[in-house]
Amino acid sequence: MKVDGKDIRPIWYDSTTQIVQVIDQRRLPHEFAVMPLTSVDDIIVAIKELAVRGAPLIGVTGAYGVMIAAMTAGDGQDRKEIIEHECLRIKDARPTAVNLAWAVDRTLSKTLAKDDEADQIKAACDEADAISEAEAENCRLIGEHGLPIIQAISEKKSGKSVNILTHCNAGWLACVEYGTATAPIYTAFDRGIDVHVWVDETRPLNQGSRLTAWELGKHGIDHTIITDNAGGHLMQHGLVDLVITGTDRTTYSGDVANKIGTYLKALAAKDNGIPFYVALPSSTFDWEIRDGITDIPIELRDADEVRRVQGFSNGQLTTVLVSPADSHAANYAFDVTPARLVTGFITERGVCGASESEVKALFPDLSPAIAS
Ligand code: MRU
Repeated sequence: MKVDGKDIRPIWYDSTTQIVQVIDQRRLPHEFAVMPLTSVDDIIVAIKELAVRGAPLIGVTGAYGVMIAAMTAGDGQDRKEIIEHECLRIKDARPTAVNLAWAVDRTLSKTLAKDDEADQIKAACDEADAISEAEAENCRLIGEHGLPIIQAISEKKSGKSVNILTHCNAGWLACVEYGTATAPIYTAFDRGIDVHVWVDETRPLNQGSRLTAWELGKHGIDHTIITDNAGGHLMQHGLVDLVITGTDRTTYSGDVANKIGTYLKALAAKDNGIPFYVALPSSTFDWEIRDGITDIPIELRDADEVRRVQGFSNGQLTTVLVSPADSHAANYAFDVTPARLVTGFITERGVCGASESEVKALFPDLSPAIAS
């Protein structure tokens, strides 16, 4: 996407220097900093600390991590075991987004299909590039398939602004290009539809107020940051026409894991008769898990992210204490919205209902484990 007129992605591989570069999302919106990732440890730290984040992007980052593992594993007898061990460490960096394990496994299998070191590195690089390009195209298509949903509301409102609420950042920063939840919004805006976005701030790390607001602002899209608890009130007063979120892992039966607080938005949307759509590429479906509430691993992060608030001061990232320093705090990073609260999925293949049969009908080739 364009930032101040320049095309930029949140990750790219510079083949001249042979270095993976990422936008350091911890520093946005206050500083636009690019950061090199040159070791597997760099990859892991960047994923754990949310310098790179969002399900499709951590998948792509993990895939380049496999390439770095192949570049740094040496030429000893244990080269294969070292690469496999590094891949396990990368997959452990964040547990909820299924894209990470999916992309690492896919890249590892292409890598180990080759015997020679140089061929392995090339295979890993080609696969990581391919995943990155495929995710960019998936998100473009999500935009096309989501457009009619926004268009229909706009027509019903005789062209008045369509108010869309979103949670966290499921924008291009999380996805290579376009975003998932934001793709239909960008497409609608670019085609001349009047849209306004309610941006949940998304405590504790404020991906909404820091990243979604920055992205939308750079694209010229009208938006308003709200506290995480404001959505229900806005819905009761007719100020939300549509909710679109992303997801980190969606079961084949339609249960949706996404940033903590998404479930409450879905409940409020249901109570107010407002459509609640989830936008995702096929890489975010988990084809092995049926019950999202019991079986999707929910990341528990450092409690200090809750006790403290992060900001940027004198050119430095800093935190200030909000709560009593000795209060217990719990930092559940994701929750699961049951399929019954989801109006539909917007995917690269089209829109479907949040049910096993509809998901399977749209992705018959990707769902081999599902009993018919
Ligand atoms: O903890 P984060 O910032 O990685 O969480 C990201 C989200 O919850 C997004 O909504 C999700 O990854 C969808 S990505 C398009």
